[in-house]
Amino acid sequence: MRLAMSNIIILGAQWGDEGKGKMVDLLSERFDIVARYQGGHNAGHTVRIGDRKFVLKLIPSGILRPDKKSVIGNGLVIDPVALLEEIEMLEAAGLRVEGSLFISNRAQVLLPTHRLMEKLGEARPGRVSIGTTSRGIGPCYEDKIARRGLRIGDLIDRQVFEPLFDTLVAEHQAAARAVGLEEALDAKAVRSQYERLAERIRPMVCDTARLLHDAMSSGQKVMFEGAQGTMLDIDHGTYPFVTSSSAAAGGACTGTGVPPTRINGVVGVAKAYITRVGGGPFPTEALDSWGDQIRNRGNEFGSVTGRPRRCGWFDVPLLRYASMINGFDSLVVTKLDVLDEMEKIPVCLGYRSAGKELSSMPATIKEMASLEPVYECLPGWRVSTFGVSNYDQLPVQAREYLNFLEKQTGVEVGCISTGPERNQTIVKQGSRFAQLFG
Ligand code: GDP
Ligand code: IMO
Ligand code: MG
Repeated sequence: MRLAMSNIIILGAQWGDEGKGKMVDLLSERFDIVARYQGGHNAGHTVRIGDRKFVLKLIPSGILRPDKKSVIGNGLVIDPVALLEEIEMLEAAGLRVEGSLFISNRAQVLLPTHRLMEKLGEARPGRVSIGTTSRGIGPCYEDKIARRGLRIGDLIDRQVFEPLFDTLVAEHQAAARAVGLEEALDAKAVRSQYERLAERIRPMVCDTARLLHDAMSSGQKVMFEGAQGTMLDIDHGTYPFVTSSSAAAGGACTGTGVPPTRINGVVGVAKAYITRVGGGPFPTEALDSWGDQIRNRGNEFGSVTGRPRRCGWFDVPLLRYASMINGFDSLVVTKLDVLDEMEKIPVCLGYRSAGKELSSMPATIKEMASLEPVYECLPGWRVSTFGVSNYDQLPVQAREYLNFLEKQTGVEVGCISTGPERNQTIVKQGSRFAQLFG
């Protein structure tokens, strides 16, 4: 039996950029703490408040509400330079970060040579190009798993940091030199820079697992914010075209130190269509002018790298798979307004491979590449839904579209987003979503 709804995971159901930032910012009003559990500054979560726009990369989207605490959990990889830039961006906008932000002493430290290792990896003959964000995220997680990484707790202890830093940087440089990839790097200067940054972040560093447990024991509510999306999860996504962390719901436990028994609900965020950035299989990709139309209307360009996002149609089997992996209680469907001008909207209901129908998501890239999506076209509504905040004011075809997604995916659509602003949101009365956040 589930206990009172208090601690909830919100994560991407597709390949990232579903609009998690907007939703986390909006819903954080109902929580005391927002905790990020994986990823690094590869994430770009956009929050619009009036004419102000914030792109959050490492810091949870709850930071924009001054009375909430934000936690960067142990599951993240932190580039201190990127973190300080983000803190300064928020402070310049008049927000107080110190006192609100808590950083795990068990999170990993990302070094400039992790970016060098990434270049080396992507350039190696025979390696598939993942089309990463080039932020050094993968190599930093590699060092974590290889047990030679540096943690934030090491960064703020100068005596421990110096030898660990020197050894790891020397290893990276040797590996790069061995393949002729020379890059001028003044290791001592970088070490001093990191030591200065350590002093800036020291007051925010603590045992965040302890902090979360103490808060929960005193009745406070926690929202867990996923980065990337289920199909970019290192285990459950379209491997190897994935990110290097556990983006799916399970990652919330390992990435914060909060056990599954403390989590009361999981909400998936999905676009009314689908996008992906970088390489890898994408069965419902629209390579024609329809894809361009969505990209332009939805402004589908990466918030971190500016790359055009690949666009396509809502993929029901993918969503069913994501729901199986995450156990969604409810779905938020975002960017409904982007489909306003479509005459017909294809939805993928299944896949065929070598003439056979597939009943589950294949595990290999070879099988994924051979999938032929089976579509059903639904009528568009061709009126503006932009900013609609009342379900009954949606055109009938839009409601039918949402009902169709709900029926086909087997997950309720409890919330609909019709624009980037907080108030451009519909919560369906009587839904499980309304119950979770009521
Ligand atoms: P995230 O990584 O999941 O947080 O998503 P991103 O911030 O990378 O990308 C989502 C983009 O869509 C951002 O620019 C948001 O401001 C914008 N957005 C979010 N919800 C909506 C919506 O319902 N309609 C429209 N038109 N834009 C939205
Ligand atoms: P948010 O949190 C979309 C993609 C990259 C690449 C792959 C691996 O904003 O949804 P990485 O640099 O992580 O090793 O790259 O993952 N990727 C994202 N795509 N949104 C993101 O984050 C992403 N973070 C990583 O494009 O294909
Ligand atoms: Mg994003």
